[in-house]
Amino acid sequence: MFEKLKGYHVEDGKVYFRYEGDYEGKEPCVEVISDTIINVFVDYTGLGHRSRAIEWERQGQNDTKEGAEKGKLESVSQDESGVIIKTKKVTIIVGDNFHVDFYDHEGMPLSLAHRGERKKNAALSASLLAFLAKEGHAASGSIIGDYPIQEVRSLEDKDCIYGLGDKTGFLNKRHYAYEMWNTDNPNPQEDNFKVLYKSIPFMLVLKEKGAYGIFFDNHGKTYFDMGKEGEDYYVLGADEGNLDYYFIAGENLKDVVTDYTYLTGRAPMQQLWTLGFHQSRWGYESEEEIRGIAKGLREHELPCDCIHFDIDYMDHYKVFTWNKETYQDGGKVISDFKDMGIKSVTIMDPGVKVEEGYYVYEEGMKNGYFAKTPKGEVYVNEVWPGDAVFPDFGNPKVRKWWGEKQKYLVDLGVAGVWNDMNEPASFRGPLPNDIVFTDEDMPAPHSQMHNVYGHNMAKATYEGWRELTGKRPFVITRACYGGSQKYTTGWTGDNHSIWAHLRMAIPQLCNMGLSGMSFVGTDVGGFGSDCTPELFARWIQIGCFSPFFRDHCAKGCRMQEPWQFGPEVLAISRKYINLRYELLPYIYDLMHECETSGMPIMRPLVLEYDKDENVKNRNDEFMLGDRILVAPVVEQGAKEKLVYLPKGVWYDYWTGEKIEGNCSFVRTAPLDVCPIYVKAGAVIPKYPVRMHVGEDKDDLLILEVYPGEGTYAHYQDNGEDFAYRQGAYNTYQIHNLNGQVEVFKQHEGYRDYEKIKVEMTAGFQKK
Ligand code: GLC
Repeated sequence: MFEKLKGYHVEDGKVYFRYEGDYEGKEPCVEVISDTIINVFVDYTGLGHRSRAIEWERQGQNDTKEGAEKGKLESVSQDESGVIIKTKKVTIIVGDNFHVDFYDHEGMPLSLAHRGERKKNAALSASLLAFLAKEGHAASGSIIGDYPIQEVRSLEDKDCIYGLGDKTGFLNKRHYAYEMWNTDNPNPQEDNFKVLYKSIPFMLVLKEKGAYGIFFDNHGKTYFDMGKEGEDYYVLGADEGNLDYYFIAGENLKDVVTDYTYLTGRAPMQQLWTLGFHQSRWGYESEEEIRGIAKGLREHELPCDCIHFDIDYMDHYKVFTWNKETYQDGGKVISDFKDMGIKSVTIMDPGVKVEEGYYVYEEGMKNGYFAKTPKGEVYVNEVWPGDAVFPDFGNPKVRKWWGEKQKYLVDLGVAGVWNDMNEPASFRGPLPNDIVFTDEDMPAPHSQMHNVYGHNMAKATYEGWRELTGKRPFVITRACYGGSQKYTTGWTGDNHSIWAHLRMAIPQLCNMGLSGMSFVGTDVGGFGSDCTPELFARWIQIGCFSPFFRDHCAKGCRMQEPWQFGPEVLAISRKYINLRYELLPYIYDLMHECETSGMPIMRPLVLEYDKDENVKNRNDEFMLGDRILVAPVVEQGAKEKLVYLPKGVWYDYWTGEKIEGNCSFVRTAPLDVCPIYVKAGAVIPKYPVRMHVGEDKDDLLILEVYPGEGTYAHYQDNGEDFAYRQGAYNTYQIHNLNGQVEVFKQHEGYRDYEKIKVEMTAGFQKK
């Protein structure tokens, strides 16, 4: 492999290195993308980058970027330490064995290649694994070793690791090992699960000083050993493909998130109603039943913007059909819901039923749009409709076809699409690795296309809806890859109604936000198992602060609408759903911030307070933006919460009590109380509670003001389409001088509020 460094040359802004050793002319390369983003690349496949996450370079498809401002290579030189590449912010030294070291502009090491021995003997041997497997013990073990493609880098004592997309377990991923292979595993998810539905091969490292990220842009199966094998290093591995990673240097985690989303795209603004409450269940088995749900929501005065139609609405689970027997005339129920202010979202699975005469199957067969076996036969496996075939979404023609097919739903009046089973899931064993798909302009095996199957399906759906409606497409997905946030929101799949999964929801959603997928949520109340009244009450209290707020559960489990748990829990649900509707303009502002800078809506405390040791692994609190801290109860039976508040002055949202931060204390938290704290000087924009978005014209804005000093930027547009990108929006700068509030219009492009009402919060009386 790469042995002693012999020299380098610069070509087209990229630095290539020559080594002693046998590497078949595959010269490794370092490319400066920006002052803080560096690409490290070995083109083992000879096919170049072929990224599915970073699309602006090749296709210019990221709406938020015109194209890359290529970073500047300040200088390249060589001395005895190696080849020294400088940008304004980072120094990279490339040495023997293609060891790449990154330093900040002061010469402090940010990330070094690991040069010591590896501790592979700490891993389980194959024979031990086989022995353990006899009693079924092997599931949580793995053989740790070398991967055909790999990168081993050093860890320092204090380094914490975040991100990695959708993983179980806790916030700090250090000491754990994960894999990236989109997987539908219906068993209750445990902390030691290596894979879930989504694969986002992006990690963030918080150091004692500074931070960095690595996006390992290989969409085949990859491995992330985050210091499990050896305490002082981590291993990134892949079975095939290229060594292709982006090193992102930052002063803090926010810098890293901003750069990662610059590379892979940012979650765009959604329609305002999507931030409302969603009600779902698999399955409301008939039109009558689902109509009863809409009626129930309104009778119980529960704000709600959307009901989801799970697979039962389809005729024999055939996509782009309607079950006329049990769901009668689709258009009618959807338009009746619309009259009640309730939108309809339908589920859409990729598996197309094998059935002669079924138009989607026939069209796909005629055009060769389904994945094939290596022998060229259409590949069949089983999903909900029985025997099914799999659209080849990596083929641009298939994406276009699938996008056009969405017209069926648009014409029915559907408002958004929920993409499920797109890992892809299959009931007769996994798809073999050699099933042939397309990767844009060339055939590619399932092993390469698996992790981007959901991504490509979401992209097809997004593009279809954008074309057909001109509105911001509302797409939800279960499977995705890095960069999918440009096309889709997501949910965490099939959790269970167990307290462990309520607790897990916080780090899981926070890490997804750090990994670019900001608009995400869990099934509130839990999908599998039976929810209890207490668990539902506590879950609603987290759900109402999650970007995607949907109550969903599985067939056969206890009914889970808020009124199924008795009057106390119904009242609690109403209280928190109402709060969600009040907070809509605040959350909408956060969505705007996300499109602008990549900052997630729901944040771990460490994103805001990364010098605070107490929050580096805080799993039971989170922030909504940078002003609201939520400390929910996540323990069964608990009526108190041990709260930690970082440095600064805070106000108890419910009582107005002033608290000096940097302390822990016990807050009483009966079942109807979720402890919430607001930063001193904050201004929180609110709307009055409404049964749904659009019930009135949003012409009253309430500014809830907290003691202290601060400024706030508020954003307003029509909440529906892309006119804002042509300037149809307003922005307001709001100054709070301890209760003296001034509002300045900064950008004018949309109609004004009729009234802006300033409300002093209880903290002013308590002082
Ligand atoms: C999958 C989804 C779940 C859905 C069910 C039936 O399990 O994750 O949300 O309800 O399929 O479509």
